[in-house]
Amino acid sequence: MKTFIVGNWKLNFNVGEASIYLHKLQKKLPNYRDVEVVVAPSTIALQPLSLQIDRHKMKLAAQNAFYRDYGAFTGETSFSQLRGVVDYCIIGHSERRYIFGEDDKMVAKKMEAAVRNKITPILCIGETESERSFGETADVIRDQLLGGLRDVSEEDIDKVLIAYEPVWAISSGKNAKIASPDEVAEVVKLIRKTLEEIYGEKVAENMPVLFGGSVNPSNAGAYLTVPGVNGLLIGGASLILSEFADILEIAKRVRS
Ligand code: PGA
Repeated sequence: MKTFIVGNWKLNFNVGEASIYLHKLQKKLPNYRDVEVVVAPSTIALQPLSLQIDRHKMKLAAQNAFYRDYGAFTGETSFSQLRGVVDYCIIGHSERRYIFGEDDKMVAKKMEAAVRNKITPILCIGETESERSFGETADVIRDQLLGGLRDVSEEDIDKVLIAYEPVWAISSGKNAKIASPDEVAEVVKLIRKTLEEIYGEKVAENMPVLFGGSVNPSNAGAYLTVPGVNGLLIGGASLILSEFADILEIAKRVRS
C-alpha cells in the first residue's frame, strides 16, 4: 500500500498563492513511487490547479462538496461538478461537523456521492476532548465509522480512505494537545477491528488509515511508524512549503 500524505490547506491561500505554492512544490518533488502526495486547496482554486498539476507527481483533493448533483442549493458545489477536477475529497472533517453542523447522515450522503462520482473520499473521524475524558472514544469512533460508511456498498468499500483525527489534537483548536503514538495506535486498532466486524478481515487490513492532528516534521516519523497508520493528514504544517516537503522526505525514508 502507498503512504498517503495529504495537505489540508483549509481556508488559506488565494488562487495566485495556491498556484505559486503548487509550482514550487512540483519543482522540488521527485517522482515518489510509494508516496501519494495530495493537496486540498479551497474550492475556488481547484479548477485552475487541476490544469496546472502534474498528476504523475501529485493529486488534488477538495475539502468539501455537496451530495446532490444539481438543484436549488445556493452556495454549494457538487461532487459531480468536481468529477475529473479532483481525485480525492475530505469528508466529515471535524471543522465541518462542529462549525457547520454536519452529522453522520450528511457525511454518509457525501461519501456515497463521492464514490458515485469517482472521487476517493477521505472520511475523517475522531473524538473531542470531552468525549475522550468521559471514556466515549470507542463509541464515537464506531458511530462515526458506521454512520459515515452506511451508504457505501461492499463493492465500493475499497475506494475509501479513513483519517483518524482526534479533535483535541488539531492545531487550530483551543489548547491543542499532541496525541502520543500509543494513543494513535490504540484508536487505529479499534478502527480496523470495527472494519473487520462489518466488512471482514481483508477490507480491514487493506483500508488506508491516516492520522491527523498537529503533525509536523518532528513528529511525522513517529506517527508513520505506528502500526496500522498508512499516511498523514496535515493542516498547519502543510501551509509551509519547506515543512510539507520535509514530511514528504520523512515518508519516503520510512517507506524505504
Ligand atoms: P493540523 O490540522 O495539522 O493543523 O492540526 C489537521 C487537520 O485539521 O486536518
